[in-house]
Amino acid sequence: MRILAIETSCDETAIAILECGGELLSPSFRVLGNTLLSQIHIHKEYGGVFPMLAKREHLKNLPIVLAETLKEAGEDPENPDIDIIAVTAGPGLEPALWTGIAFAEELAEKWRKPVIPVNHMEGHLFSFLFKQAEPIRFPAIALLVSGGHTELVLLDGFDKLKVIGQTRDDAVGEAFDKAARLLGFPYPGGPKISELAGIARKRSGSTLRKSPFLFPRPMLNTNDYDFSYSGLKTAVLYAVKKLGELDMETKEDLAQAFEEAAIEPLVLKTRRALEEHGAQTLIVGGGVSANRYLQTGLAVLRDELGVDLRLPLPDLTTDNALMIGIAAYVGILTGRSKPAEAITARGNLPL
Ligand code: KG4
Ligand code: ZN
Repeated sequence: MRILAIETSCDETAIAILECGGELLSPSFRVLGNTLLSQIHIHKEYGGVFPMLAKREHLKNLPIVLAETLKEAGEDPENPDIDIIAVTAGPGLEPALWTGIAFAEELAEKWRKPVIPVNHMEGHLFSFLFKQAEPIRFPAIALLVSGGHTELVLLDGFDKLKVIGQTRDDAVGEAFDKAARLLGFPYPGGPKISELAGIARKRSGSTLRKSPFLFPRPMLNTNDYDFSYSGLKTAVLYAVKKLGELDMETKEDLAQAFEEAAIEPLVLKTRRALEEHGAQTLIVGGGVSANRYLQTGLAVLRDELGVDLRLPLPDLTTDNALMIGIAAYVGILTGRSKPAEAITARGNLPL
Protein backbone atom coordinates (compact mmCIF):
# COMPACT_ATOMS: atom_id res chain seq x y z
CA MET A 1 0.00 0.00 0.00
CA ARG A 2 1.32 3.42 -0.96
CA ILE A 3 0.68 6.27 1.43
CA LEU A 4 1.36 9.95 0.76
CA ALA A 5 1.72 11.58 4.19
CA ILE A 6 1.54 15.28 5.04
CA GLU A 7 2.74 16.90 8.29
CA THR A 8 2.21 20.59 9.14
CA SER A 9 1.41 20.60 12.86
CA CYS A 10 4.20 22.94 13.94
CA ASP A 11 7.25 24.39 12.23
CA GLU A 12 8.13 21.69 9.69
CA THR A 13 6.43 21.33 6.32
CA ALA A 14 6.92 17.67 5.37
CA ILE A 15 5.55 15.27 2.76
CA ALA A 16 6.60 11.66 2.19
CA ILE A 17 5.53 8.77 0.00
CA LEU A 18 5.90 5.38 1.67
CA GLU A 19 5.43 1.88 0.36
CA CYS A 20 4.01 0.02 3.37
CA GLY A 21 3.69 -3.74 3.67
CA GLY A 22 3.47 -6.62 6.13
CA GLU A 23 1.47 -7.36 9.24
CA LEU A 24 1.36 -5.20 12.36
CA LEU A 25 3.99 -7.25 14.18
CA SER A 26 6.42 -7.11 11.27
CA PRO A 27 5.62 -4.14 9.07
CA SER A 28 8.02 -2.89 6.41
CA PHE A 29 8.39 0.60 5.05
CA ARG A 30 10.20 1.80 1.95
CA VAL A 31 10.65 5.51 1.38
CA LEU A 32 9.89 6.52 -2.21
CA GLY A 33 10.08 10.25 -1.60
CA ASN A 34 10.60 12.38 1.48
CA THR A 35 10.98 16.16 1.70
CA LEU A 36 11.04 18.42 4.73
CA LEU A 37 11.31 22.20 4.84
CA SER A 38 12.01 23.57 8.29
CA GLN A 39 10.86 27.02 9.36
CA ILE A 40 13.18 27.07 12.35
CA HIS A 41 15.34 29.85 10.87
CA ILE A 42 12.24 32.09 10.72
CA HIS A 43 10.93 31.34 14.23
CA LYS A 44 14.42 31.58 15.75
CA GLU A 45 14.22 35.38 15.74
CA TYR A 46 11.10 35.30 17.90
CA GLY A 47 12.22 32.62 20.35
CA GLY A 48 9.31 30.30 19.54
CA VAL A 49 6.79 29.29 16.90
CA PHE A 50 4.12 31.84 15.98
CA PRO A 51 1.01 30.08 14.63
CA MET A 52 0.10 32.64 11.97
CA LEU A 53 3.66 32.87 10.73
CA ALA A 54 3.82 29.06 10.61
CA LYS A 55 0.58 29.02 8.60
CA ARG A 56 1.93 31.50 6.06
CA GLU A 57 5.12 29.46 5.61
CA HIS A 58 3.25 26.15 5.26
CA LEU A 59 1.00 27.67 2.57
CA LYS A 60 4.08 28.81 0.68
CA ASN A 61 6.05 25.58 1.19
CA LEU A 62 3.45 22.86 0.66
CA PRO A 63 3.39 22.98 -3.18
CA ILE A 64 7.21 23.10 -3.28
CA VAL A 65 7.57 20.16 -0.89
CA LEU A 66 4.95 18.13 -2.79
CA ALA A 67 6.64 18.74 -6.16
CA GLU A 68 9.99 17.69 -4.72
CA THR A 69 8.60 14.51 -3.12
CA LEU A 70 6.75 13.45 -6.30
CA LYS A 71 9.87 14.12 -8.35
CA GLU A 72 12.02 12.02 -6.02
CA ALA A 73 9.47 9.18 -6.19
CA GLY A 74 9.30 9.49 -10.01
CA GLU A 75 5.54 10.06 -9.84
CA ASP A 76 3.26 11.94 -12.22
CA PRO A 77 2.00 15.09 -10.40
CA GLU A 78 -1.34 14.78 -12.19
CA ASN A 79 -1.93 11.12 -11.37
CA PRO A 80 0.55 9.62 -8.89
CA ASP A 81 0.50 5.94 -8.04
CA ILE A 82 -0.64 6.17 -4.42
CA ASP A 83 -3.53 4.51 -2.56
CA ILE A 84 -4.28 6.93 0.21
CA ILE A 85 -3.40 10.37 1.57
CA ALA A 86 -2.66 10.69 5.30
CA VAL A 87 -2.59 14.06 7.04
CA THR A 88 -1.92 15.22 10.59
CA ALA A 89 -5.19 16.42 12.15
CA GLY A 90 -3.80 17.26 15.62
CA PRO A 91 -2.52 17.90 18.17
CA GLY A 92 -0.59 21.01 17.12
CA LEU A 93 -1.09 24.63 16.13
CA GLU A 94 -4.55 24.83 14.58
CA PRO A 95 -3.77 27.40 11.85
CA ALA A 96 -0.80 25.24 10.83
CA LEU A 97 -2.83 22.01 10.92
CA TRP A 98 -5.55 23.53 8.71
CA THR A 99 -3.06 24.26 5.92
CA GLY A 100 -2.08 20.58 5.70
CA ILE A 101 -5.68 19.39 5.91
CA ALA A 102 -6.93 21.77 3.20
CA PHE A 103 -4.00 20.79 0.98
CA ALA A 104 -4.68 17.06 1.53
CA GLU A 105 -8.37 17.48 0.73
CA GLU A 106 -7.59 19.40 -2.46
CA LEU A 107 -5.23 16.64 -3.62
CA ALA A 108 -7.77 13.97 -2.68
CA GLU A 109 -10.35 15.58 -4.92
CA LYS A 110 -7.94 16.11 -7.78
CA TRP A 111 -6.50 12.58 -7.65
CA ARG A 112 -9.74 10.89 -6.45
CA LYS A 113 -8.07 9.28 -3.44
CA PRO A 114 -9.29 8.83 0.14
CA VAL A 115 -7.81 10.91 2.99
CA ILE A 116 -7.31 9.71 6.55
CA PRO A 117 -6.61 11.91 9.57
CA VAL A 118 -3.60 10.97 11.71
CA ASN A 119 -2.84 11.83 15.32
CA HIS A 120 0.60 13.47 15.45
CA MET A 121 1.43 11.76 18.77
CA GLU A 122 0.67 8.34 17.25
CA GLY A 123 3.24 9.36 14.65
CA HIS A 124 5.87 9.90 17.36
CA LEU A 125 4.75 6.73 19.15
CA PHE A 126 5.02 4.44 16.11
CA SER A 127 8.09 6.04 14.48
CA PHE A 128 10.28 3.25 15.95
CA LEU A 129 8.52 0.79 13.60
CA PHE A 130 10.42 2.24 10.64
CA LYS A 131 13.32 -0.06 11.43
CA GLN A 132 12.15 -2.85 13.63
CA ALA A 133 14.25 -5.92 14.36
CA GLU A 134 11.84 -8.07 16.39
CA PRO A 135 8.05 -8.06 16.79
CA ILE A 136 7.00 -5.87 19.69
CA ARG A 137 5.87 -7.53 22.94
CA PHE A 138 2.89 -6.17 24.90
CA PRO A 139 2.11 -4.69 27.32
CA ALA A 140 4.35 -1.79 26.40
CA ILE A 141 4.93 1.62 27.92
CA ALA A 142 5.58 4.56 25.60
CA LEU A 143 7.34 7.70 26.76
CA LEU A 144 6.46 10.55 24.40
CA VAL A 145 8.59 13.64 24.87
CA SER A 146 8.40 16.58 22.50
CA GLY A 147 8.10 20.34 22.38
CA GLY A 148 4.37 20.11 23.01
CA HIS A 149 3.90 16.86 24.97
CA THR A 150 5.21 14.81 27.84
CA GLU A 151 3.18 11.62 28.15
CA LEU A 152 3.38 8.09 29.43
CA VAL A 153 1.16 5.74 27.45
CA LEU A 154 0.20 2.15 28.21
CA LEU A 155 -0.22 -0.09 25.14
CA ASP A 156 -2.01 -3.41 25.44
CA GLY A 157 -1.99 -3.74 21.67
CA PHE A 158 -1.52 -1.50 18.64
CA ASP A 159 -5.02 -0.14 19.08
CA LYS A 160 -5.27 -0.20 22.86
CA LEU A 161 -3.58 3.00 23.96
CA LYS A 162 -4.17 4.67 27.29
CA VAL A 163 -2.46 7.84 28.51
CA ILE A 164 -1.51 7.07 32.12
CA GLY A 165 0.47 10.23 32.85
CA GLN A 166 1.30 13.62 31.42
CA THR A 167 2.68 17.03 32.21
CA ARG A 168 0.52 19.32 34.32
CA ASP A 169 1.99 22.43 32.68
CA ASP A 170 4.94 22.84 30.25
CA ALA A 171 6.22 20.02 28.05
CA VAL A 172 9.77 18.85 28.67
CA GLY A 173 10.99 20.02 25.22
CA GLU A 174 9.44 23.41 25.86
CA ALA A 175 11.33 23.57 29.18
CA PHE A 176 14.59 22.76 27.37
CA ASP A 177 13.87 25.54 24.87
CA LYS A 178 13.07 28.06 27.61
CA ALA A 179 16.17 27.17 29.63
CA ALA A 180 18.27 27.59 26.49
CA ARG A 181 16.75 30.99 25.90
CA LEU A 182 17.60 32.08 29.46
CA LEU A 183 21.20 31.05 28.82
CA GLY A 184 21.20 33.08 25.60
CA PHE A 185 20.73 30.37 22.96
CA PRO A 186 18.20 30.46 20.11
CA TYR A 187 15.07 28.32 19.61
CA PRO A 188 14.94 25.33 19.65
CA GLY A 189 17.63 25.11 22.30
CA GLY A 190 17.18 21.50 23.49
CA PRO A 191 20.14 20.12 21.52
CA LYS A 192 22.35 23.03 22.70
CA ILE A 193 21.52 22.43 26.39
CA SER A 194 22.27 18.77 25.90
CA GLU A 195 25.59 19.58 24.21
CA LEU A 196 26.65 21.99 27.01
CA ALA A 197 25.67 19.47 29.69
CA GLY A 198 27.82 16.88 27.91
CA ILE A 199 30.78 19.29 27.93
CA ALA A 200 30.33 19.89 31.68
CA ARG A 201 30.34 16.14 32.35
CA LYS A 202 33.42 15.63 30.19
CA ARG A 203 35.22 18.49 31.92
CA SER A 204 34.55 16.95 35.31
CA GLY A 205 36.02 13.68 34.06
CA SER A 206 33.02 11.67 35.22
CA THR A 207 29.60 11.04 33.75
CA LEU A 208 28.42 10.44 37.31
CA ARG A 209 29.46 13.79 38.76
CA LYS A 210 26.44 15.98 39.32
CA SER A 211 26.40 19.67 38.49
CA PRO A 212 27.38 22.09 41.28
CA PHE A 213 23.93 23.62 40.78
CA LEU A 214 20.79 21.82 41.86
CA PHE A 215 17.33 22.51 40.43
CA PRO A 216 14.05 21.20 41.84
CA ARG A 217 12.38 18.05 40.51
CA PRO A 218 8.70 18.75 41.13
CA MET A 219 6.31 15.79 41.41
CA LEU A 220 9.19 13.34 41.66
CA ASN A 221 7.61 11.55 44.59
CA THR A 222 3.92 11.91 43.73
CA ASN A 223 1.98 8.69 43.45
CA ASP A 224 1.08 9.11 39.76
CA TYR A 225 2.75 9.26 36.37
CA ASP A 226 2.48 13.02 35.94
CA PHE A 227 5.17 15.65 35.43
CA SER A 228 5.58 19.38 35.99
CA TYR A 229 8.12 21.66 34.33
CA SER A 230 7.03 25.26 34.97
CA GLY A 231 8.80 25.41 38.37
CA LEU A 232 12.05 24.24 36.81
CA LYS A 233 11.91 27.04 34.28
CA THR A 234 11.38 29.58 37.09
CA ALA A 235 14.29 28.11 39.07
CA VAL A 236 16.60 28.57 36.07
CA LEU A 237 15.35 32.13 35.68
CA TYR A 238 16.16 32.97 39.34
CA ALA A 239 19.58 31.32 39.15
CA VAL A 240 20.49 33.25 36.02
CA LYS A 241 19.30 36.54 37.57
CA LYS A 242 21.27 35.91 40.75
CA LEU A 243 24.47 34.98 38.95
CA GLY A 244 24.43 38.01 36.62
CA GLU A 245 26.97 37.83 33.80
CA LEU A 246 27.52 34.15 32.90
CA ASP A 247 30.77 32.72 31.59
CA MET A 248 30.69 29.63 29.38
CA GLU A 249 31.68 27.21 32.14
CA THR A 250 28.84 28.41 34.36
CA LYS A 251 26.42 28.02 31.44
CA GLU A 252 27.62 24.45 30.98
CA ASP A 253 27.13 23.67 34.68
CA LEU A 254 23.65 25.25 34.62
CA ALA A 255 22.77 23.24 31.49
CA GLN A 256 23.89 20.06 33.20
CA ALA A 257 21.86 20.83 36.34
CA PHE A 258 18.84 21.63 34.18
CA GLU A 259 19.20 18.44 32.17
CA GLU A 260 19.42 16.32 35.33
CA ALA A 261 16.31 17.96 36.80
CA ALA A 262 14.36 17.64 33.52
CA ILE A 263 15.32 14.06 32.65
CA GLU A 264 15.50 12.27 35.99
CA PRO A 265 11.72 12.45 36.71
CA LEU A 266 11.09 11.01 33.23
CA VAL A 267 13.32 8.03 33.91
CA LEU A 268 12.00 7.48 37.43
CA LYS A 269 8.32 7.55 36.48
CA THR A 270 8.95 5.46 33.37
CA ARG A 271 10.60 2.85 35.62
CA ARG A 272 7.55 2.80 37.87
CA ALA A 273 5.16 2.57 34.93
CA LEU A 274 7.12 -0.37 33.50
CA GLU A 275 7.24 -2.18 36.83
CA GLU A 276 3.64 -1.57 37.84
CA HIS A 277 2.24 -2.70 34.48
CA GLY A 278 4.58 -5.64 33.99
CA ALA A 279 5.61 -4.11 30.67
CA GLN A 280 7.83 -6.03 28.27
CA THR A 281 8.69 -3.14 25.98
CA LEU A 282 9.63 0.51 26.38
CA ILE A 283 8.92 2.70 23.37
CA VAL A 284 10.28 6.24 23.15
CA GLY A 285 9.30 8.98 20.72
CA GLY A 286 9.40 12.75 20.12
CA GLY A 287 12.15 15.33 19.75
CA VAL A 288 13.54 14.95 23.27
CA SER A 289 14.13 11.22 22.67
CA ALA A 290 17.30 12.37 20.87
CA ASN A 291 18.67 13.44 24.29
CA ARG A 292 21.70 11.34 25.24
CA TYR A 293 21.27 11.68 29.00
CA LEU A 294 17.69 10.39 28.64
CA GLN A 295 18.83 7.55 26.39
CA THR A 296 21.47 6.54 28.94
CA GLY A 297 18.88 6.52 31.74
CA LEU A 298 16.47 4.44 29.68
CA ALA A 299 19.20 1.98 28.71
CA VAL A 300 19.71 1.35 32.44
CA LEU A 301 15.99 0.54 32.73
CA ARG A 302 16.29 -1.83 29.77
CA ASP A 303 19.17 -3.68 31.40
CA GLU A 304 17.80 -3.75 34.94
CA LEU A 305 14.19 -4.61 34.09
CA GLY A 306 14.88 -6.79 31.05
CA VAL A 307 12.53 -4.86 28.76
CA ASP A 308 13.04 -4.22 25.04
CA LEU A 309 13.93 -0.59 24.33
CA ARG A 310 12.59 0.81 21.05
CA LEU A 311 13.90 4.20 19.93
CA PRO A 312 13.26 5.92 16.61
CA LEU A 313 16.15 6.51 14.21
CA PRO A 314 17.77 9.91 14.96
CA ASP A 315 16.19 11.51 11.86
CA LEU A 316 12.74 10.36 12.97
CA THR A 317 12.82 11.79 16.50
CA THR A 318 11.72 15.29 15.51
CA ASP A 319 8.66 16.09 13.38
CA ASN A 320 8.57 14.47 9.93
CA ALA A 321 6.10 13.02 7.44
CA LEU A 322 7.39 9.43 7.51
CA MET A 323 6.04 8.94 11.03
CA ILE A 324 2.62 10.18 9.86
CA GLY A 325 2.64 7.58 7.08
CA ILE A 326 3.69 4.86 9.55
CA ALA A 327 0.93 5.79 12.03
CA ALA A 328 -1.58 5.86 9.16
CA TYR A 329 -0.57 2.32 8.16
CA VAL A 330 -0.88 1.10 11.76
CA GLY A 331 -4.32 2.77 12.00
CA ILE A 332 -5.47 1.19 8.73
CA LEU A 333 -4.33 -2.30 9.82
CA THR A 334 -6.00 -2.04 13.24
CA GLY A 335 -9.12 -0.44 11.75
CA ARG A 336 -8.74 2.52 14.08
CA SER A 337 -8.22 4.98 11.20
CA LYS A 338 -10.84 5.40 8.50
CA PRO A 339 -11.05 7.72 5.50
CA ALA A 340 -12.97 10.87 6.38
CA GLU A 341 -15.09 13.20 4.25
CA ALA A 342 -14.22 16.39 6.09
CA ILE A 343 -11.32 16.53 8.53
CA THR A 344 -11.22 19.01 11.40
CA ALA A 345 -7.99 20.36 12.87
CA ARG A 346 -7.91 19.77 16.62
CA GLY A 347 -5.14 21.52 18.49
CA ASN A 348 -5.65 19.37 21.60
CA LEU A 349 -6.51 16.07 19.92
CA PRO A 350 -5.88 13.35 22.55
CA LEU A 351 -4.34 9.97 21.76
O1 KG4 B 1 8.85 16.27 18.40
P1 KG4 B 1 9.37 17.60 18.07
O2 KG4 B 1 10.14 17.79 16.80
O3 KG4 B 1 8.24 18.66 17.96
C1 KG4 B 1 7.05 18.63 18.62
O4 KG4 B 1 6.14 17.85 18.21
O5 KG4 B 1 6.98 19.39 19.61
O6 KG4 B 1 10.24 18.07 19.33
C2 KG4 B 1 10.96 19.25 19.35
C3 KG4 B 1 11.55 19.45 20.73
C4 KG4 B 1 12.15 20.82 20.95
O7 KG4 B 1 11.65 21.34 22.16
C5 KG4 B 1 13.65 20.54 21.02
O8 KG4 B 1 14.37 21.47 21.80
C6 KG4 B 1 13.67 19.17 21.64
O9 KG4 B 1 12.60 18.50 20.99
N1 KG4 B 1 14.94 18.46 21.43
C7 KG4 B 1 15.79 18.11 22.45
C8 KG4 B 1 16.90 17.47 21.84
N2 KG4 B 1 16.69 17.45 20.48
C9 KG4 B 1 15.48 18.06 20.26
N3 KG4 B 1 15.70 18.28 23.76
C10 KG4 B 1 16.70 17.82 24.53
N4 KG4 B 1 17.80 17.21 24.04
C11 KG4 B 1 17.94 17.01 22.72
N5 KG4 B 1 19.02 16.40 22.23
ZN1 ZN C 1 6.05 16.39 17.22
